Amino acid sequence: MSGGKGKDMEKTFWYKDAVIYQIWPRSFKDADGDGVGDLMGVYEKLDYLKSLHVDAIWFSPLYPSPNADFGYDVADYMDISAEYGGMAAFKKVLDGAHERGIRVIMDLVVNHTSDEHPWFQASRRGEEPYKDYYIWRKPKKDGTLPNNWDSMFEGKAWQYDEVRKAYYLHIFAIKQPDLNMDNPRVRAEVKKILRFWLDMGVDGFREDVITYISKPKGLPDAPFYMPMARGIFQYNNGPHLHEYLNEFRTVLDDYDCVTIGEAPLITTKRALDFIGGKHPELDMMIPFQCMEGDCFLQDYSHHPFCLVKLKTIWQHWQKALRGKGWNLLYIENHDHPRVISRYGSEKYNTESGKALAASYLFQEGTPIVYQGQEIGMTNIYPETIDGYEDVQTINQYYHFATHKSEKKRMQRIYWGSRDSARTPVQWSDAPNAGFTTGTPWFAVNENYPQINVAAQENDPDSLLNFYREALRLRHELPVVRYGTFRQYYPLSNKLFVYERRAKRERLLVICSYSVNPVKFKAPRGYDLQKGQLLLQSHTDYIENNGFVTQPYETRVYLFRDEEKKE
Ligand code: GLC
Repeated sequence: MSGGKGKDMEKTFWYKDAVIYQIWPRSFKDADGDGVGDLMGVYEKLDYLKSLHVDAIWFSPLYPSPNADFGYDVADYMDISAEYGGMAAFKKVLDGAHERGIRVIMDLVVNHTSDEHPWFQASRRGEEPYKDYYIWRKPKKDGTLPNNWDSMFEGKAWQYDEVRKAYYLHIFAIKQPDLNMDNPRVRAEVKKILRFWLDMGVDGFREDVITYISKPKGLPDAPFYMPMARGIFQYNNGPHLHEYLNEFRTVLDDYDCVTIGEAPLITTKRALDFIGGKHPELDMMIPFQCMEGDCFLQDYSHHPFCLVKLKTIWQHWQKALRGKGWNLLYIENHDHPRVISRYGSEKYNTESGKALAASYLFQEGTPIVYQGQEIGMTNIYPETIDGYEDVQTINQYYHFATHKSEKKRMQRIYWGSRDSARTPVQWSDAPNAGFTTGTPWFAVNENYPQINVAAQENDPDSLLNFYREALRLRHELPVVRYGTFRQYYPLSNKLFVYERRAKRERLLVICSYSVNPVKFKAPRGYDLQKGQLLLQSHTDYIENNGFVTQPYETRVYLFRDEEKKE
């Protein structure tokens, strides 16, 4: 691979031309038949990823973990879980990916560890140098908890430890104690971890809840209540966050690598604090707001999908970051229900999947495609909470609307559960969707006989082949990389129409979010007859310089303006 390392290394910004594919390893592909996805399963599918025009894989955590939060509870930062095939399998995948020109991005989870990490075990026994690796507090004088913060995943944010005879802070699950980043030894560990993977040839990191790592002095109470997030305004964007990120940057600067920050509640203004300026701390931020097309801040705080809201958010990120910071584009990941089930239509799966794909893939920035998104995987609807595995989902169930009917509680779970995006990838119509020959660790969506990779490979009009072509075009068309962004009909709640313009090239993307016919008329300055229709979901018919849309109709036109004669 190009790039390199060492003090004289030139950063190549390769990520600006890249398409990233996110793998949540447990559910991607099982090669050894134990029912759990693994790295040899990934190895088998590297050519598939290449055929999708993917340039980089971001792996959700692969480290040894007791799986209280499926890998986001790390028990050893410098190894690969045996369940996934261990280090040998990882190196095979790393080499196999690099041979195909695909880079590898790891998940860096350093806000917390697993309680089974040896650091925590030593810390609870009060052993040096680990004694202050975590955030330990005695109860208040009146015997109450050290502060009023809530855990996002389980009850209060404090757990009493019988060995240490003190409380430790856990913003996430009880089994995910927060690290004390104010301890220089902990920061030295983080730098060691970065070097370990970068020296092995890894190409970057997605940094998990990175804006939580610096806790405020005195850990003050939160002044107001926020369901399952009381305290977030205290610990998010803490006082030393930038200082610590700059410290980590001293390592990262020695390598041609990418860093992606996960920052809940992020705004464009705040994003630029990390990714703007001459020597940014991170390269890209995950734009959480694009998940708010049907909710407020959190997926479970549901409201009906509003296209205008979503378009406004997209436009805002496009405009605010232009020339100042580089956008990251996504519509799915392992923390949200499937997007067709939210913003599109399960009935019009292929059609709405295409509209969603074209809506974001031609914007400025680096897109991420989440496993299964490219074939239009949808949510699951188990009858009871027992059908779920995720700690956050289960917490939400016991927390929410306990006075309401079971049906209402489950509805909230359908709106919010991350497990909907964690069902095994549907490779074929073979038993268990071809994911495993064993018993899958988690439910396979029952629609797999209809929705699967093999069926879509053979269908030129499939969503899979639409993604493939869209990603190929992204690489081919400089206007997608450099063009300006402009939206047309911003107040339409049925159409998303945007233009990318660079020099003499213009791209016009038209996506309907309606099953009903909508009259589309080309914006001023566009003659559809003169455009080249690069991608389409239905027909190419044009009438009166426009057309009446079919359900979720999508078209992408390219216009090459003639050179002006002097
Ligand atoms: C991030 C991850 C999520 C995880 C949490 C705690 O939000 O994306 O999956 O549960 O952090 O690590």
